[in-house]
Amino acid sequence: MLNRRLFAALGTAATLALTVALPAHAEPIVIKFSHVVSPDTPKGKGAAKFEELAEKYTNGAVDVEVYPNSQLYKDKEELEALQLGAVQMLAPSLAKFGPLGVQDFEVFDLPFIFPSYDALHAVTGGDVGKMLFAKLEDKGITGLAFWDNGFKIMSANSPLNVPDDFLGLKMRIQSSKVLEAEMNALGAVPQVMAFSEVYQALQTGVVDGTENPPSNMYTQKMNEVQKHATISNHGYLGYAVIVNKKFWDELPADVRAGLEQAMAEATDYANSIAKGENDAALEAMKAAGTTEFHDLTPEELEAWKAALLPVHEEMAERIGAETIAAVKAATGM
Ligand code: LMR
Repeated sequence: MLNRRLFAALGTAATLALTVALPAHAEPIVIKFSHVVSPDTPKGKGAAKFEELAEKYTNGAVDVEVYPNSQLYKDKEELEALQLGAVQMLAPSLAKFGPLGVQDFEVFDLPFIFPSYDALHAVTGGDVGKMLFAKLEDKGITGLAFWDNGFKIMSANSPLNVPDDFLGLKMRIQSSKVLEAEMNALGAVPQVMAFSEVYQALQTGVVDGTENPPSNMYTQKMNEVQKHATISNHGYLGYAVIVNKKFWDELPADVRAGLEQAMAEATDYANSIAKGENDAALEAMKAAGTTEFHDLTPEELEAWKAALLPVHEEMAERIGAETIAAVKAATGM
């Protein structure tokens, strides 16, 4: 009797626990997606597209919160926050993985290594891309996709036509040893700085110049504080979309499948608009008239290449000669 009553009471308690637990499970799973650029860029638009599709394909089981413009974290902090699980998703520039201990990603920063978006896609969409993502796993990170931005232009308050024009200029770079070597090869003084601080540093003269794809330069209004820019397309800037591995692995399988679908479509979208966004940003800056844009002559381009190509050899040990060779094999260079 006593036992029966006890079991009945336990049964009621268990049912209650279940009903209390259920609404908690019904709460959407929150994905905080932090990034450092404007919403009005290829990455910003890609993140917004992912938010829309992720919520749709999971029937609202997931709530994606996108935080642009370093609202939550600056460059270095956001990678730490991802590893700690304070945010779930990021899309850092490929130039920012070195400090994490995955130096192979700096292969993307080598000067003139990608002659076109097609050459780049042969790398990101192939075995090299897979190999790079595999290296993130033991850092507690899963790589989901590569998102395009574009080819970089150099800017300063003085003309940058030939390598000698860089002598002594303080140039802001992302946290990549390859970019440091690139600026050193030009005779400039590289200065690593978070993206969110660049506009003010240019405005106040803390640095003289920088390099960026046009979309970043324009959406941060850097053209308002840079009198000259050279359309050198000397290097590439793009992203890896990454998630906290534990968070990702522990998602219910159907939710993860919905998110994978959303990511595949958001990736196609982001990569389909990247070139157009950069072309439009360049035109808008030309129309704004605050910066004088210079196209390299064939002779100037040769001089840039002569100064910068030795960086490939110089950085081979750091990046890994095999990784560089695999990239070159994929691009046919
Ligand atoms: C930069 O720091 O210049 C870029 O990585 C910013 C970005 O995310 O495009």
